[in-house]
Amino acid sequence: MVTEIIAHRGASCAAPENTFPAFDLAYKMGAEGIETDVHMTKDGVPILIHDATLDRTTNGKGYIKDYTWEQLKLFDAGYTYSINFVGTPIMSLEQLLKWISNKNMRLNIELKNNNMEYPNMEKTIYEMINDYKMQERTILSTFNQESIVRLKKWTKNIELALLASKKQKGLVSLAKNIGANALHIKFNLLNKSIVKECHKNQMSIRVFTVNKKSAMHKCYQLGCNGIFTDMPKKAKWVRMLFKSGMK
Ligand code: G3P
Ligand code: CA
Repeated sequence: MVTEIIAHRGASCAAPENTFPAFDLAYKMGAEGIETDVHMTKDGVPILIHDATLDRTTNGKGYIKDYTWEQLKLFDAGYTYSINFVGTPIMSLEQLLKWISNKNMRLNIELKNNNMEYPNMEKTIYEMINDYKMQERTILSTFNQESIVRLKKWTKNIELALLASKKQKGLVSLAKNIGANALHIKFNLLNKSIVKECHKNQMSIRVFTVNKKSAMHKCYQLGCNGIFTDMPKKAKWVRMLFKSGMK
């Protein structure tokens, strides 16, 4: 089994996270998938940004939920990263779906609904994936267990992943019982037995955020289904070395 390399927020080591330059770079680097984070605007548009507020990654301030999509389009999501990316706009999920739909890449949409409540988030995203015929290539992930349960009611052919960053007993059973098809864990939770248990239960296991060579090596060696990395080019090189038996 080949461990898939998924660009975390795009190739975020070399371009502003969750923006088109980061996604395009990931594609050019040969990443097999893209991971992105979604929040909802005041008028119900899913947009790509990690935090619930604009403050860290854009020149704006305040919560995404307090702005319409038309207003958010005017902010700069490249300026805090580097002068080379000044003028990079925030992207909507629909813009990303349009771009990725004709590329042979997997898409992992992380619903950022663990600390925020977005009433129609799951349905809106689910319908959009269907419109772009991306069901087979999309993974929906969230830290919110109730959201997985809600999604499970309609998403028969979309992979659902529970995210976990804290050690917890019975994590694999919990994920399975709420209807998840996969477990996405923080690297420090990774060990041989959790991989085995996932696979025994026909669940995929993917690991975040894997940027160090030694960590990549461990994921490849344990047979993880995927890694989320800010550095897809490096991850491909380390995987090639691993497959050829070199360290
Ligand atoms: O989806 C894996 C990972 O992205 C979860 O953590 O904080 O980077 O969104 P975070
Ligand atoms: Ca994420």
